[in-house]
Amino acid sequence: MLYHSLGTIPHKRHTQFRKADGSLYREELVSTKGFAGIYSTVYHLDLPTKVHQIGETKSLEFPVWNNDQLRHHHLRLNAAPRDANYLASRTPVLFNHDVMLSAARPTDSMTYFYRNAAADELIFVHEGSGILETLFGTLAFKQGDYVLIPRGTTHQFRFSSSENRLFIIETSSPVQTPKRYRNEFGQLLEHAPYCERDLKRPTELQTRDETGEFEVKVKKGNLLASYCYSRHPFDAVGWDGYFYPMTLSIYDFEPITGRIHQPPPVHQVFEAENLVICNFVPRLFDYHPDAIPAPYNHSNIDSDEVLYYVDGNFMSRKGIESASLTLHPGGIPHGPHPGTTEKSLGVKETKEYAVMIDTFRPLHLTAHAEQFDDALYPMSWSV
Ligand SMILES: [Fe+2]
Repeated sequence: MLYHSLGTIPHKRHTQFRKADGSLYREELVSTKGFAGIYSTVYHLDLPTKVHQIGETKSLEFPVWNNDQLRHHHLRLNAAPRDANYLASRTPVLFNHDVMLSAARPTDSMTYFYRNAAADELIFVHEGSGILETLFGTLAFKQGDYVLIPRGTTHQFRFSSSENRLFIIETSSPVQTPKRYRNEFGQLLEHAPYCERDLKRPTELQTRDETGEFEVKVKKGNLLASYCYSRHPFDAVGWDGYFYPMTLSIYDFEPITGRIHQPPPVHQVFEAENLVICNFVPRLFDYHPDAIPAPYNHSNIDSDEVLYYVDGNFMSRKGIESASLTLHPGGIPHGPHPGTTEKSLGVKETKEYAVMIDTFRPLHLTAHAEQFDDALYPMSWSV
């Protein structure tokens, strides 16, 4: 994370900062981990606490797939439903205490504002583009971007077209760059697969001095509250700090390769408590003369492994399509499909794109997952 500032701020924090008419701007500290984590200080035209009306709070409880078995799963999320409503378009499929994974195909821009009060949202843009407006400024996003929206960030998505496909990773703890890639000052090290230049920060702060009726939906756990404000929520004239949304393109991730097969940690892009997020990108294959480019069979004893297939021909698996998701639970070995190991010999490069989440606590399937499930997948190594 980097210090960033947009707009106008006073020369000293917590001091009088006045408008042209002599009245005060309203300071808001957005802090994390109490006062021990990263924070930003925001200056509003009006009180951010001035609620006009509190509407109905809805329950977001979703049914759990109780018949799930301890087995590999292949979910064909290509068939996830579209919906005009951004939040209603989300189909949660996997969850535990640390993370929830959803597919979403929103067709329309948001008419309301939204903030997740209890989870960071890391949104992988599989298809689509547009503008993310936030209290901290505007971010453009496009296919291949991870859009990282820290918890508590009020935002609104505006899509360029109706063709949008998102893979949403909600984490109970903050999404961060891998600690081993940071020096003692937090700067990304030379051997990291991306650097600060690749992390896109908000570039433009549009102060909305507008009154009317503005609905902000606030999600906290399984509750979705509706808050109505009489002033536009993006009324900041300036802010500074380390807490703000950002994007990182999967196309800016530089793969780490070697003479023999490199283990998944070289593909890591982010981490949160009890999980890591990796991505597979086009790269040259291993260059030892006897190298086997396909991965080895693997027993991941301590983690459940989720792969979301984005683009390209995933070399070690058969029957996988774009937007397929596989879950390989800990304790059940997985590996390349028969024939793919031999087929990989001598191959020089791969064009695959995929996002991987390894969780250190077991994942559960929602009832929504069942409709996408390829029940034959667990036996697909035997054919
Ligand atoms: Fe694996």
